[in-house]
Amino acid sequence: MRQIVGQPFIEIKKELPTLGVGLGLRREIADEIFKHHQHIDWLEINPENYMGTGGSASKRLKLAKAAFPLVSHGLNLSIGSSDDLNEQYLRDLKALLDFIEAPWWSDHLSFSSIDNRYLHDLFPLPLTQEAIDHVVARVQTVQRFIERPFLLENISYYLQVPGSQLNESAFISEIVEKADCGLLLDVNNVYVNATNLNFDPYKYIDSLPLERVVQIHVAGHTINSGQIIDSHGEAVIEPVFELLRYVLNRTDVRGILLERDQNFPDFSEILLELKQIREITEETKSGSAVKSAIQAQCAT
Ligand SMILES: [Fe+2]
Repeated sequence: MRQIVGQPFIEIKKELPTLGVGLGLRREIADEIFKHHQHIDWLEINPENYMGTGGSASKRLKLAKAAFPLVSHGLNLSIGSSDDLNEQYLRDLKALLDFIEAPWWSDHLSFSSIDNRYLHDLFPLPLTQEAIDHVVARVQTVQRFIERPFLLENISYYLQVPGSQLNESAFISEIVEKADCGLLLDVNNVYVNATNLNFDPYKYIDSLPLERVVQIHVAGHTINSGQIIDSHGEAVIEPVFELLRYVLNRTDVRGILLERDQNFPDFSEILLELKQIREITEETKSGSAVKSAIQAQCAT
């Protein structure tokens, strides 16, 4: 969907399609995903895997596009970095988003490059007014360039950046409101941070502008030496499903996505988790919209 310059994000959200319950497209499980397409409403792709590539990646993307609505979730926008925005990356990303006809796109509220070197990880920003102003200006720039609705995701992190003056929810809220973009709320990241950094995840969620949440991520994590690691490599635990329920009872979202990136189980276990997520959406306030979207897809 093309974004009209100057249109408020809350108005844009109303026009976004409701996609339902989706799964991240990973090479290791791609065959199973295509085989069980009737149980998966949409897919999320990492654009870096498909920009300027040919061969098997390109073939996988074409197969995915033929069978599913696709949304892009990037790793290398590096929105919080002090490096200049990477113009070539943005041009390639825009072409990919046009090709997949993405209704929206997202990346992380973090930085992933220093001195134009990509670090292959997502690092937290200092929670300061200076960082807010920096990120807001860059989000506005990329929104103008890409011309499709943009969502920022809350990341997981393991220590508070020195010099931070705000709490995380106030930091995120001010950025998405001033930049006028959407929010991709990762409820596993909320759980991981709340547990490791000792805050109340429900109060955190209550203080976010939930009306801006377009998409939710649900994932599993790993416990290592008393710390929770956001691994996307285990089954989702009930307290994370509980946070999903809590959010869905408070706002209407357009898509809920299961992130499973490693330590893949038998695909039947992934299908079971998708079914659990679908049952939660159907029993909550957002459920009616998701359910009717799924029924409409089944009817076509
Ligand atoms: Fe996520």
